[in-house]
Amino acid sequence: METLQITRPDDWHIHLRDDDALRTTATHASHYLGRALIMPNLQPPVTTAEAALAYRQRILDNCPAASPFTPLMALYLTDQSSPDEIRQSADSDKIIAAKLYPAGATTHSQSGVKDIQRLYPLFAIMEEVGLVLSIHGEVTDPSVDIFDREKRFIDDHLRAIVDTFPQLRVVLEHITTATAVDFISSARRGVAATITAHHLLLNRNDLFRGGICPHNYCLPLLKREADRCALVNAACAANPRFFYGSDSAPHPRQGKESACGCAGIYTAHAGIELCAEIFSEAETLDRLEGFCSHFGADFYGLPHNTDSITLTASPWSVPDCYEYSHNDLIPFRAGQKVSWKIQEASV
Ligand code: DOR
Ligand code: ZN
Repeated sequence: METLQITRPDDWHIHLRDDDALRTTATHASHYLGRALIMPNLQPPVTTAEAALAYRQRILDNCPAASPFTPLMALYLTDQSSPDEIRQSADSDKIIAAKLYPAGATTHSQSGVKDIQRLYPLFAIMEEVGLVLSIHGEVTDPSVDIFDREKRFIDDHLRAIVDTFPQLRVVLEHITTATAVDFISSARRGVAATITAHHLLLNRNDLFRGGICPHNYCLPLLKREADRCALVNAACAANPRFFYGSDSAPHPRQGKESACGCAGIYTAHAGIELCAEIFSEAETLDRLEGFCSHFGADFYGLPHNTDSITLTASPWSVPDCYEYSHNDLIPFRAGQKVSWKIQEASV
């Protein structure tokens, strides 16, 4: 049987939620990840360093005692964010990024930023203190076609941010388009992107396969097959500007299967195995480790994890659902096979 040993992977963009939900999400994530960058879009959002560190402790309280898992935190930027909060966050080695959600762009982004230019003084401080700017890169103008919102964000905002703050480290999160791949590939040093497993595996036809498929609805939306192929090429190219961020985003079943369903796909139960499938299919398994275990840490200026995990090419069936905060959570590939498995996986 084919096996592959890689440095323990990290996930540079994950939603774990809070309270009871952590029993499921933190258990899954800590099962195979060394570190994860935890997104701050709780309700209310994590807008202070103090709140981020308290949230981090609640996550740790839900991880098995022997787990090597280290949550790293991101601050949620709002129109009211202050220089003090940026500096305090940067002072903690446990807070490594500030997240820019354009107001209304996605789940729990109502408190996000309405006027990006007004944050420029904060970006200048982040540049100075070395706090990474993590961006949900979609415009929110309802007149812009929803499939074009990433491209418009790059043109209307990202180019200017990257040019105005030449030392600011910027991550364009969960990219979905060939346009974003091209932008990141040719951007200056210090500009990178995360890519999810679901955007590598699905295209927009998967939203409407035999009817509407709410469990494939996420933001940014799945795009065309040509975009998916551009993402696979970027991820599998051993280009350190592209690294793994799952954007695993749990919602209770009834929140997804609803007249106005929530955006988010849950992959934390099988994130690294899904990546192994993608790299195996592309015949670049030898590059999986760079994408999942090295490039993100290098970008954030952190050491590689020192232990490893072993994957085997042995198919397993994903459960139909997981228990999630007294609700059902329908995971990616529910009831279907994933073709790689972490040895001794037991989620
Ligand atoms: O699909 C998504 N779900 N995209 C996001 O940007 C947020 C996430 C969530 O928090 O549910
Ligand atoms: Zn996200």
